[in-house]
Amino acid sequence: MNPKTPAILSYHQRTKHTLQRYAKGPETLDWEDQPDPFRRFSGCAVSPLPAPGRDLPVLFTDLDQPESIAPQPLDNANVGLLLELAFGLSAWKQFGPSRWALRCNPSSGNLHPTEAYVISIGQDFLVSGVHHYVSHDHRLEQRCQFAGSSSEAGLFIALSSVHWREAWKYGERAFRYCQHDIGHALGALRYAAATLGWSVDILVEAGDEEIAKLLGLDRSGDFKKREDEAPDVLCRIRTASLAPVPYPTLLEQLPSATWSGKADSLRAYHLYHWPVIDEVAEAAHKPLTHEVLWQTAAQPPLPSACQRSAAQIIRQRRSAQQFDGKMPALPSADFYRMLSAVLPSAATFAFWPSAPKVHLFIFVHRVEGVTPGLYALLRDEAALKPLQAATSALFGWQKHHGSLPFYHLYDGDLKVIAKTLSCHQPIASDSAFSLAMVAEFQTTIEAEPWRYRRLFWECGLIGQVLYLEAEAAGVRGTGIGCYFDDSVHEILGIKDDTFQSLYHFTVGKPLEDSRLQTFPAYSHLQAQGQQQ
Ligand SMILES: Cc1cc2nc3c(=O)[nH]c(=O)nc-3n(C[C@H](O)[C@H](O)[C@H](O)COP(=O)(O)O)c2cc1C
Repeated sequence: MNPKTPAILSYHQRTKHTLQRYAKGPETLDWEDQPDPFRRFSGCAVSPLPAPGRDLPVLFTDLDQPESIAPQPLDNANVGLLLELAFGLSAWKQFGPSRWALRCNPSSGNLHPTEAYVISIGQDFLVSGVHHYVSHDHRLEQRCQFAGSSSEAGLFIALSSVHWREAWKYGERAFRYCQHDIGHALGALRYAAATLGWSVDILVEAGDEEIAKLLGLDRSGDFKKREDEAPDVLCRIRTASLAPVPYPTLLEQLPSATWSGKADSLRAYHLYHWPVIDEVAEAAHKPLTHEVLWQTAAQPPLPSACQRSAAQIIRQRRSAQQFDGKMPALPSADFYRMLSAVLPSAATFAFWPSAPKVHLFIFVHRVEGVTPGLYALLRDEAALKPLQAATSALFGWQKHHGSLPFYHLYDGDLKVIAKTLSCHQPIASDSAFSLAMVAEFQTTIEAEPWRYRRLFWECGLIGQVLYLEAEAAGVRGTGIGCYFDDSVHEILGIKDDTFQSLYHFTVGKPLEDSRLQTFPAYSHLQAQGQQQ
């Protein structure tokens, strides 16, 4: 076992919610003092992006076969659209005097710890250097300029997390949620790129230290204490006109970089400190690695009747806060389409670098032709025997679908159980189905503890697919980070760390809260433009 793995196991154990007590978090929250969800750097050159809101004639179902989508040219307008569809605002909500923004990527508690950066080399529309994306203003802040000339041209997107933004509300468990959010953001980036006919490579070799250097996150003087960003992931954008720039070429730009700007304060009082988050972040620090990319034969998901454009589905994605517990059963074609869309053979997962480690245990409540009960979707059929061995002997493991690795385990009305397991939240029982994402845990993190983060990313990516598929089917989803870990394991019969449940999700017919008002995503920019 890697000497850092015990710290991960201990963090995971102590941040479990139980029926008797929630993981350690703040005792009081002053909502007036919430950390600013929008980071800005002062003292940087700013590059405006073209007005947001553009649509493209690409259907959501076209994304099933992305190679058939005509690639858009790599220019300022399309990079702006990429950023908007991945991380931009999708709406404003208002309740009484409170007003808050929603984004194309979801976030636990809407706290948005994820920050996005663009790294440009040799493009005529954007200075070669590192640029921070401000979703609120839909613009780029130039953190550094590369002076060296490169014969190659490339575009990269990198993600980082402000752990404290999430810990402000969720305390010790927040590190998990930051990782889920990175998985969602990666999914959002992939969908946005595919809409433009582009693709995403995750540069798996990159270590956290190099990503921090590349993004200037190691420049401690540029960040207020405890408001720093942890490096997460570096991606290369591939378009028809861009040959893939090798990772070392990107690193060669660094010595010539001239940095500018300092992060503004997130404007909140740091009342509570959660040192265990720094400890687990250190234990899960990713070094430079050499990884053979995992690949599987592509297979489009089962058909969908959705006729909406990809951009429409991306912009309309929301979390349901309440479901109609009297909904008619979800059509089985929609249910199986969603399941097929989260299999590793679906196009969304083509950029995922490692073998699937996450499987779904599904509490079916209201699905046409599927008897209520517990089912499993194995995202890698090789996991069948280990899962059978690790879970309850009462489970039948009968294959329930001709072409999907979908198994019937147990009949019964599991609504109350599902709700109880998900921290008593009715969204887990009033839905068509809810589910637990169960990961191959111990063996994955034993030798390489940083893979703890990647397990959560995989869960977040699956969640992002479910969010968009739910919208495409005319229903709605919600990610569920609050669940009683070991009670879930008990119901499934899991007795040790071989498998662990890392995320929950639910899909059903949403009930709108008529007290909330909705406003367009970027009307504040138009108003600003008119004033100038
Ligand atoms: C990792 C994660 C965990 C979440 N956990 C819960 C949850 O336990 N209960 C809930 O009602 N919503 C949960 N949500 C939904 C968020 O509250 C929602 O994404 C956020 O308020 C932003 O709203 P939007 O998804 O409509 O953009 C979760 C979302 C994510 C990404």
